[in-house]
Amino acid sequence: MLKKMFLSIVVLFCFLSTSIAADLSPVKLPPPDMKGGKPLMQCLKDRKTDRSFSTKKLPVDVLSNLLWAASGVNRADSGKRTAPSAVNWQEVDVYVAMEEGLYIYNAKAHILEPVLKSDLRKNTTQLLQPSRSSVAGAPLQLIYVADYEKMSFLVNDEDKKLYSSADTGFISQNVYLYCASEGLATGVRGMVNKEALSKDMKLRDKQKIILVQAVGYPAD
Ligand SMILES: Cc1cc2nc3c(=O)[nH]c(=O)nc-3n(C[C@H](O)[C@H](O)[C@H](O)COP(=O)(O)O)c2cc1C
Repeated sequence: MLKKMFLSIVVLFCFLSTSIAADLSPVKLPPPDMKGGKPLMQCLKDRKTDRSFSTKKLPVDVLSNLLWAASGVNRADSGKRTAPSAVNWQEVDVYVAMEEGLYIYNAKAHILEPVLKSDLRKNTTQLLQPSRSSVAGAPLQLIYVADYEKMSFLVNDEDKKLYSSADTGFISQNVYLYCASEGLATGVRGMVNKEALSKDMKLRDKQKIILVQAVGYPAD
């Protein structure tokens, strides 16, 4: 009897959590433009943290290029990505918080898969100093989440944290350089209420938020 009740609760929970995302549609991204952009040396010259954002949304082609630059597949034969990862674990997922909801970037299919139909952008900015309030209005918050379960053979969480933090740094720098190329504002943040945000995102225990990065047009 108890077992039956437990099973019903699990089934109900699964149904509810899938139905939350069910009314949020996937975002099909156009193919990335791999020929555009400024020369690398110019991007390096212009790379910076800019915390003043306009609330203007990013068009889907910019979103496509941004995510591909961040961590897209650049070698179809091996499935390897624009950012390196230790042992090619590819353990860092890029979650995208927008007004419409929370998505996860599926690099192989180059689409945004729905996760939750709620605007979690403000949930990433609880620890912001008041002087940095325009970060909360950015159209996009990229949330870098390491999945420790993908890091096979490492038993030690300290090592997992080290490697996944390094791997996140490469993704974040790709985003910085893309933003420098396109004249977008961006800023990465470690000061995030990770415990609360993990709950809001309904992450599993072995999924760890590493950093959050706001992206948008610069404020006028
Ligand atoms: C790992 C890491 C964590 C950071 N965390 C924050 C943060 O919590 N809040 C913030 O406003 N900036 C944060 N920054 C941005 C730095 O303050 C910024 O990179 C630094 O001031 C240098 O400025 P620049 O990026 O324009 O060179 C972080 C940067 C890195 C690399």
